[in-house]
Amino acid sequence: MDTRPIGVFDSGLGGLTALRELAALLPGEDLLYFGDTGRVPYGSRGEEVITRYAQEDAAFLLSQGVKAVVCACGTVSSVAGERLRQKTGCPFIEVVTPAAQAAAKATRTGRVGVIATAATIRSGKFPAALRALDPAITILDLACPLFVPLVEDGHIAPDDPIAVPAVEHYLAPLRKKGIDTLILGCTHYPLLAPLIQAFLGEGVTLVSSGREAARAAKGILAEQGLLSSQKAGGSRRYFVTDAGGSFSTVAEVFLGEPVRDVAPVNIGDLERLAL
Ligand code: DGL
Repeated sequence: MDTRPIGVFDSGLGGLTALRELAALLPGEDLLYFGDTGRVPYGSRGEEVITRYAQEDAAFLLSQGVKAVVCACGTVSSVAGERLRQKTGCPFIEVVTPAAQAAAKATRTGRVGVIATAATIRSGKFPAALRALDPAITILDLACPLFVPLVEDGHIAPDDPIAVPAVEHYLAPLRKKGIDTLILGCTHYPLLAPLIQAFLGEGVTLVSSGREAARAAKGILAEQGLLSSQKAGGSRRYFVTDAGGSFSTVAEVFLGEPVRDVAPVNIGDLERLAL
């Protein structure tokens, strides 16, 4: 039994998709969220910068005394996941493997789509994970670079006049080629899930990488005897590198609850941290 908080991080709002699921699965756990809102997006950057940011983010969570690190970012998981796993010194949960497992299980036709940031698609990690599970799966992968700024800016309503055409623009090739399962390989994308589902139709199963990572985290913590004995009333604390932006407003809409305890983190201080 371990009452230390679980740490969750992302470049911005996307990791809330994992946090929301963790809160539902483990209501007694204290959750600590770090969003690097001052440096988002990561997905359009190169490997070296993403890896440096990722190490600083994980080091920040560790400095807060977390018992596990959930890397709720497809980009960091794909580009720097292995390096972080070796360095964190506590259970480390990334999003690629859990999402690939869920998709391989869900598909009936063997035609699986993957949408994610440019860096994630370039890494080839999702196709590799899917092929390792089932070499017969046909994978259609595609970057949707505008989705992250849309979400960060709060364009998440099902009838949003900017998000709806963006979803149509990016996903038309997938709809044409035909898939029955789609991995939302960037944790921001589930905030657009109603729009994506409406465009692709109910016949397509959407797999949220954030949600699958949260489920995997529960399993790993249980296995290692690290769950808290508290069954309800877990606290939520949020840290962001740009507290002046839209984080709290969009987070409240997505989580459906007040987001009050949001503390700023200075990027200069972050840059002095190392794993
Ligand atoms: N939410 C992140 C991901 O899952 C990062 C998006 C970004 O910063 O570009 O890839």
